[in-house]
Amino acid sequence: MMVIPLGHFYSIFYLRCMLTYPIHTGERALRQLEQDLRQKQYEQIMVLVDTHTHEHCYPLLRELLPEHELCVIKPGEIYKNLDTCTIIWQKLTQANFGRRSLMLNLGGGVIGDMGGFVAGTYKRGIDFIQLPTTLLSQVDASVGGKLGIDFMEFKNHIGLFLDPQAVYIYPPFLHTLPQRELLSGFAEVIKHHLIANREGWQQLRNTTEVRSLDLKALIEHSIDIKSRIVELDPQEKGARKALNFGHTIGHAIESHYLHSPHPLLHGEAIAIGMVTEAHIAFRRKLLSASELAEIHQFIARFYPKFTIPTQDFDAIFARMANDKKNMLGQILCTLLKGIGTFLINIAISKEEVFAALNYYNHHGPDTGI
Ligand SMILES: NC(=O)c1ccc[n+]([C@@H]2O[C@H](COP(=O)([O-])OP(=O)(O)OC[C@H]3O[C@@H](n4cnc5c(N)ncnc54)[C@H](O)[C@@H]3O)[C@@H](O)[C@H]2O)c1
Repeated sequence: MMVIPLGHFYSIFYLRCMLTYPIHTGERALRQLEQDLRQKQYEQIMVLVDTHTHEHCYPLLRELLPEHELCVIKPGEIYKNLDTCTIIWQKLTQANFGRRSLMLNLGGGVIGDMGGFVAGTYKRGIDFIQLPTTLLSQVDASVGGKLGIDFMEFKNHIGLFLDPQAVYIYPPFLHTLPQRELLSGFAEVIKHHLIANREGWQQLRNTTEVRSLDLKALIEHSIDIKSRIVELDPQEKGARKALNFGHTIGHAIESHYLHSPHPLLHGEAIAIGMVTEAHIAFRRKLLSASELAEIHQFIARFYPKFTIPTQDFDAIFARMANDKKNMLGQILCTLLKGIGTFLINIAISKEEVFAALNYYNHHGPDTGI
C-alpha cells in the first residue's frame, strides 16, 4: 500500500467561494426564469426535453416561456451519445438558430450534460440554461460546467467545461420522479456529506425515507459544497477531484453494465463505487473498520445488492485503466481520509480493486470485514 506523492489533503470547510453564474433554488425559480428571459430577449429559444420531462415537467413551464421550439429526445443514458447530438444539431440548423439563441435544458443529468455540450459547440457556442428535474441533476450535475456525452462505451468521454448562463432549481419537479431515480440522486448527496461534512453525515445517517427529508435544504447543502469545490478548481486539476469519490470504480461499473439487460442507474453504480473505494481506504488505514461499516450499512439501506460476477472484474478494471483522471499510466482515485475529508490522486492497484469488489460481493454490511 503506497500513497504516491501526487496525493494532497484538503479540508474545504473553511473556504467561501461563489460561482460566476446564478443558481436560483426554490418555488420561485420558474418565475425568476420567466423574468430573466423577458429581459434577455433571445432571438430564438430551443427547449430540450426527453419524453418523460416533456410529459411531466414541460407543462409546468410552457406558459411561462416566450415563443420557442421544442426538441424531444428519447430518455436515458444509452441516448447520451453522438447520434442524439446530431439530431439536436440538425434541429437547430433546420430552424435557423443563430448565435443569439438559447438552449434551455429541461431534464436530468443526461439532458443537461448533452444539451450543454450541443449548445457549447453549435456555431462555436450559444447560451444555455440548466433546468434540472431529477434529484441527481439538482444536487450535482447542473452545477460545475462539466458537459459531455458517452463515446465507445466510455462515460463522458467527449465533452468540455463550459458554464451555463444560469441554473434554475425547482424542487416540485421531483414530485413525479420515480423512487428509483430519486435514490440514484441521493447517492450524490451521500457523497457530498462523506467528502465534506462529518457532522451532517451523522444526521443524514438517521434517514430511513428520502422523500421525508427537507429536499430543498438538502439540495442547497449539496450545491453549496459542490460550488465551493468547483470554484476552487473549475477544470479539475486538483481539489475538484474530491467530487470523484466513488466514481473511479463506480463509472467503470456503470459503463460495463450499460448495455446489459439490467443496467444500473448512475447513482446506483456510484453507491457501489463508494463502498468499494471506502474498502480500499480502510485497507490503507485511512478509514476505521467502524467508518467502513457505517458507510456500507447506510448505502445498503437504500440500494439493492448487485452481485458483480467475478468473471467481470477484469473488464471493469480495464475500463478504469481508460479513466480521464489517470496520469502516467496509474489509476488515480479519491479516497476518504476519515469521514468529511479526503485525499486525491491516489494510485490504486488491481489487487486493491479486486479485493474491494470481493468485499462488496461477499460481505453484508453487518458481517464485518
Ligand atoms: N455534469 C456533471 O457534473 C455530472 C455530475 C453527475 C452526474 N452527471 C451525469 O448525469 C447523468 C445522470 O443524470 P440523471 O440521473 O438525472 O439521469 P437522466 O437524465 O437519465 O434522468 C433519469 C430519468 O428520469 C426521467 N425524469 C427526469 N426528470 C423527471 C421528472 N421530474 N419526473 C419524471 N421523470 C423524470 C428522465 O426522463 C430519465 O428517464 C449521467 O449521465 C451522469 O454522467 C453529470
